[in-house]
Amino acid sequence: MRLGDPPAPHELDPIERVSRDELMALQLERLRRTLSHAYHNVPVYRDKFDRAGVHPNDCKELADLAKFPFTTKQDLRDGYPFGMFAVPREQVARIHASSGTTGRPTVVGYTSADLDVWAQVMARSIRASGGRPGDIVHVAYGYGLFTGGLGAHYGAERLGCTVVPVSGGMTPRQVRLITDFRPDIIMVTPSYMLALLDEFAAQGLDPRASSLRVGIFGAEPWTDSMRAEIEERFDLHAVDVYGLSEVMGPGVAIECVESKDGLHIWEDHFYPETVDPFTGEPVGEGETGELVFTSLTKEAMPVIRYRTRDLTRLLPGTARPAFRRMEKVTGRTDDMIILRGVNVFPTQIEEIVLGVEGLSPHFQLHLTRPDRLDVMTVMVEARPGLGDGRARAGQALRRAVKDSVGVSVEVEVVDPETLERSVGKLKRVIDKRDN
Ligand code: DLL
Repeated sequence: MRLGDPPAPHELDPIERVSRDELMALQLERLRRTLSHAYHNVPVYRDKFDRAGVHPNDCKELADLAKFPFTTKQDLRDGYPFGMFAVPREQVARIHASSGTTGRPTVVGYTSADLDVWAQVMARSIRASGGRPGDIVHVAYGYGLFTGGLGAHYGAERLGCTVVPVSGGMTPRQVRLITDFRPDIIMVTPSYMLALLDEFAAQGLDPRASSLRVGIFGAEPWTDSMRAEIEERFDLHAVDVYGLSEVMGPGVAIECVESKDGLHIWEDHFYPETVDPFTGEPVGEGETGELVFTSLTKEAMPVIRYRTRDLTRLLPGTARPAFRRMEKVTGRTDDMIILRGVNVFPTQIEEIVLGVEGLSPHFQLHLTRPDRLDVMTVMVEARPGLGDGRARAGQALRRAVKDSVGVSVEVEVVDPETLERSVGKLKRVIDKRDN
């Protein structure tokens, strides 16, 4: 494998080298400022704090944050479109929004100082992934209201890279541009990377011979098995980037190329907590819970204890010792399928599918309720050339799911290239149960 070398200490931002104590002192100062900014400039926060009987002055140490009320997606929806802004609208330099497929879109805003911070954390993230000034970066995250494209774009520019702003879609052209421009880095959802892999094959090209040496993948859950698949097929380093629009966009946390052991959270700007998703009580460090973020520097739209619905654990820093890591997010509280009393996350199925010989990483989960009983069918593509081994592969998958998840599923092994490909975020679950 070619190297995506980790940065040398002198290449890091000074903040990346501070001690944990120095970082925590900075966090406290910024947290107090943010609580006060939110309280004095956003009526929703003032009401919530007043109702909970807390005041920004009650925050004397970082642990005091737990006294403050949570913010949820519903709060943001209720304030649609600009109700959560803490600065006059004229000072908002950019708007992004979620797609709104499950309700009103969630709108977020940035001042030019916020955009500057975002570019900075994204530049740090690309460097932690092995990127350097002068590298060519192919951005295949969607551009537009989604934060992926522009977030990646400005970060790569800030680092001093040559950016190719392709956006998602037009897959044959993506592969042509990769062949012709010879990018070092690609930034794209892992599921769309698999679509690019098919296209390399369709054009008779060897993906391992491409110029790419680092892939920065995120915006959806993906597993270490998927990492192994992508790294092997493309001969590159695959690292995980995490973020959400309510908190900023991509670049909230990143895996370092030299360790690939979870994602370092840029805690000088985003303060993480993990809580029990049902009770809201903090869980201990190292225990799985719902990730909650408080922004520490955002001007246009500060968020206080925002419930992400993403499940993970917080771990101490490694490659950046002062910055805590979050384990790869493998599920969301609202992604969890409850199948006849057993909790199943799509990523568990992903791990298992990738362990069965002859099955490709392309699969969908279809939920039906034929006789008042929920049935999950794993529709999975055979790898090309599997031939008559399909029944055996299907059996093996069914058995492996039963053994490791503890629930029976149906399996249909279908022809290669028959399931729909994603251009951005993948829709893994197709729920046909009528409630
Ligand atoms: O997906 C921002 C982003 C763009 C991140 C490009 C990384 C790369 P939203 O559309 O607001 O923002 O969706 C945020 O996506 O709460 C997670 O559930 C999921 N998500 C994002 N990154 C990861 C990841 C962008 N690395 C929601 N692993 C989050 C797992 C992720 N899930």
